[in-house]
Amino acid sequence: MSTPSSQGNGFDRILIFDTTLRDGEQAPGAALNVDEKLTIARQLARLGVDIIEAGFPYSSPGDFEAVQKIAEQVGTETGPTICGLARATKADIHAAAEALKPAVRGRIHTFIATSDIHLEHKLKKTRAEVLAIAEEMVAYAKSFVSDVEFSPEDAGRSDPEFLYQVLERAIAAGATTVNIPDTVGYTTPAEFGALIRGIKENVPNIDQAVISVHGHNDLGLAVANFLEAVKNGARQLECTINGIGERAGNAAMEELVMALHVRRQYFNPFLGRPVDSEAPLTNIDTRQIYKTSRLVSNLTGMLVQPNKAIVGANAFAHESGIHQDGVLKHRLTYEIMDAQSIGLTDNLITLGKLSGRNAFRTRLKELGFELSEQDLNKAFVRFKELADKKKEITDWDLESIVNDETQQTPEHFYLEWVQVTCGDHARPTATVTLRLPSGEELTDAAIGTGPVDAVYKAINRVVNVPNQLIEFSVQSVTAGIDALGEVTIRLKQGDRIFSGHSANTDIIVASAQAYVNALNRLYIASQQPEKPETATAKV
Ligand code: KIV
Ligand code: ZN
Repeated sequence: MSTPSSQGNGFDRILIFDTTLRDGEQAPGAALNVDEKLTIARQLARLGVDIIEAGFPYSSPGDFEAVQKIAEQVGTETGPTICGLARATKADIHAAAEALKPAVRGRIHTFIATSDIHLEHKLKKTRAEVLAIAEEMVAYAKSFVSDVEFSPEDAGRSDPEFLYQVLERAIAAGATTVNIPDTVGYTTPAEFGALIRGIKENVPNIDQAVISVHGHNDLGLAVANFLEAVKNGARQLECTINGIGERAGNAAMEELVMALHVRRQYFNPFLGRPVDSEAPLTNIDTRQIYKTSRLVSNLTGMLVQPNKAIVGANAFAHESGIHQDGVLKHRLTYEIMDAQSIGLTDNLITLGKLSGRNAFRTRLKELGFELSEQDLNKAFVRFKELADKKKEITDWDLESIVNDETQQTPEHFYLEWVQVTCGDHARPTATVTLRLPSGEELTDAAIGTGPVDAVYKAINRVVNVPNQLIEFSVQSVTAGIDALGEVTIRLKQGDRIFSGHSANTDIIVASAQAYVNALNRLYIASQQPEKPETATAKV
């Protein structure tokens, strides 16, 4: 896969830079472990993103390791460019360069704030000092990799004249991409478009770099801002799956990609193409969008709101009689895109009780899962268990059990069994047994206001880890009384949030597993203190 970063900003396709694993992961409670980041990175590669921002290597040993592993296993000859974030300091840039070494194509993304508000209150530096640092640090990054991206943080609130100077110096020092962040989601589409146009017109060497945009969704305008930026010369979009990220999140990739796809006739001329060109505007395989969205939601514990554009549960549902009637007469009356174009299949029933290991493996392969022999065995056992309870197994069931079986957090507490009695004449009572790595089994029981409450109280008595449950949600994977129930929870300890996810036909079991899953994350995080600098290193 080639990244046309050396072709200046005149090329006629849009680069998709995914920052789910860096900016997305900064969302409260979205923390992922290294294996989960690798799983997402592999899926992002299948989705066809051009660049994966895999993390911020200096910020913690975990981030360093994740970037390094993604560079090694996903940043292959045919894979995407792998990028690491670095503040404009030698230590950050050096860490990023080290972590990116295994990638065939590695990019260092270095940044420093340029708005007066940041200069005065955060950096306590003059404009002249920031100019010099930007130039020096881009050159330093360039001494490690040829592909260097520079971001003037808070560009949306920076003085454009100063911005032009910083960008000119960064490009002269070797930046091949200049990224314009609306860090606080403050600008409006017309303003953001004008900012990009101003940069194109006033930075003398701008044709030596790709113009990129990055934006947060504080006013709900990030996607609209980016589309305006494309019209004015931006050719790289920095976005996240499901729009996750700091505060109100980042620009949502699925919305950007589908807007460019569905409305390509509108956008074609801005990229110098014939109006009716059918050539895709991005490299994204749109049929992988839904699957990627579910994966990110399951692993981060950040649920997708039902009315979310493109990937929300209601995005393709027609409830009103008038709409249903129209769609039945002609789909285009009320639908601007086909559900299949984002990979929402017709929920095919593909396997059943009698399906063997070969059929199972083949279908998983068709769905894009390449499992190790060990993971395949685990998933096959789960499939057989499910097939005993549920007559027809759909692709979504398969996805759910494979994700559940292969992406669990390393376990400290293992749920051995859970049993509940409840009913309208019984006090909900739960007994649980958890196993520790030493093999020791701990059992306790509790009464609760309902069965889930009783289970969580019993687990708490066993683990004795103070926490507060802040979110609990159950969703069914498919329709039908025998459907798998997916439970997603979030719990809080101090100011840190941890998520857990699990799927089972028994929602009490799924609830117990999701809780234990979150407790494992909490426990593992408490064993790995972050570097002291991390608090300030998060951006
Ligand atoms: O929002 C922001 O400004 C960032 C930069 C590091 C690009 O995330
Ligand atoms: Zn950001």
